[in-house]
Amino acid sequence: MDYEATGQAALAEIAGAQDLDALEGLRVALLGKRGSISGLLKMLGTMTPEQRQSEGPLIHSLRETVTVALAARKTELDEAALAARLAGEWLDLSLPAPETPRGTIHPVSQVMDELAEIFADLGFAVASGPEIEDDWHNFSALNMPESHPARAMHDTFYFPDRDAPDSHGNTREMLLRTHTSPVQIRTMLAEGAPLRVIAPGRVYRSDSDATHTPMFHQVEGLVIDRGIHLGHLKWTLETVLKAFFERDDIVLRLRPSYFPFTEPSVEVDTGYSWVDGRRVVGGSGDAPGHAWMELLGSGMVNAHVLRAGGLDPDEWQGFAFGVGVDRLAMLKYGMNDLRAFFDGDARWLAHYGFSALDVPTLSGGVGTPV
Ligand code: DAH
Repeated sequence: MDYEATGQAALAEIAGAQDLDALEGLRVALLGKRGSISGLLKMLGTMTPEQRQSEGPLIHSLRETVTVALAARKTELDEAALAARLAGEWLDLSLPAPETPRGTIHPVSQVMDELAEIFADLGFAVASGPEIEDDWHNFSALNMPESHPARAMHDTFYFPDRDAPDSHGNTREMLLRTHTSPVQIRTMLAEGAPLRVIAPGRVYRSDSDATHTPMFHQVEGLVIDRGIHLGHLKWTLETVLKAFFERDDIVLRLRPSYFPFTEPSVEVDTGYSWVDGRRVVGGSGDAPGHAWMELLGSGMVNAHVLRAGGLDPDEWQGFAFGVGVDRLAMLKYGMNDLRAFFDGDARWLAHYGFSALDVPTLSGGVGTPV
């Protein structure tokens, strides 16, 4: 038997094995129970002592050579498999961050955060209520009973199904809140008095043109305490708007108005002028080159509303206001079409959006007149 040739053939096959499965097949064929080399070893038992002396070392050496070659090839194939896997799962942790971060904070979110920060400095907490509201919180409790004409002005989105009548036979119609004012009622009922809260959030009205979208944002404000009067309202709004617009020359004009939930009611105007084709808030509206623009609605909380909120109007007074956040954002950051706010156009967001790192803080600058 030509062990030399058998060995050469086995080594060639081992060297040619392309993967671990093929190599294992070879190992079984050569060294397994029924393998060819195992067969040779078994034959030793049938040999004469002389034959065994001459053949034995050759067969053992053949087995040794093949065993070593199998192990060496296995190591090679293992390393190649590992290298291939490492190449496939390669991740360069030294890559720089993308030059332009993809996401931005929407100006509406930014403005809400700015307002929360400014009001927090004056001791206001942030309150919230549901966007799916019932007509009692949205209207009746705010001194707009069922037949009140002001209800018609709200272009309300009603839900088709009414709630089951309660024990008094009253049904509560469900709707998308038309303003943040119902949060006044919810907060008074939940927390009692005194109170100092703002309630930012989404509101809905069936209305759509260049200055109206069916969903928009408001911030409600409510202060309840003893001895509160319009002077507190004016000082608070002036202080907040100076901080918000970051200028000291904000001039407000309080104009008598009507809201069912306040008595007296005032609309608050602010002076502005045109600079480079856009409105810039500041100065008196009566100054040359200036005009007044309506900014928000407010007033002293109506006694009916205090009662609906579970408070005694002889003990507690308060002021309230409601302001459109989208409009504030447009004024401060110079956009002119409200509809673009909600188009989700990545180019608009990249242009007008804020970095997530640009968190409004008083120490970081918001509220500092420049
Ligand atoms: N809720 C009113 C609206 O959406 C805004 C408003 C006016 C809120 C006067 C108030 C207020 O709290 O006192 O048109």
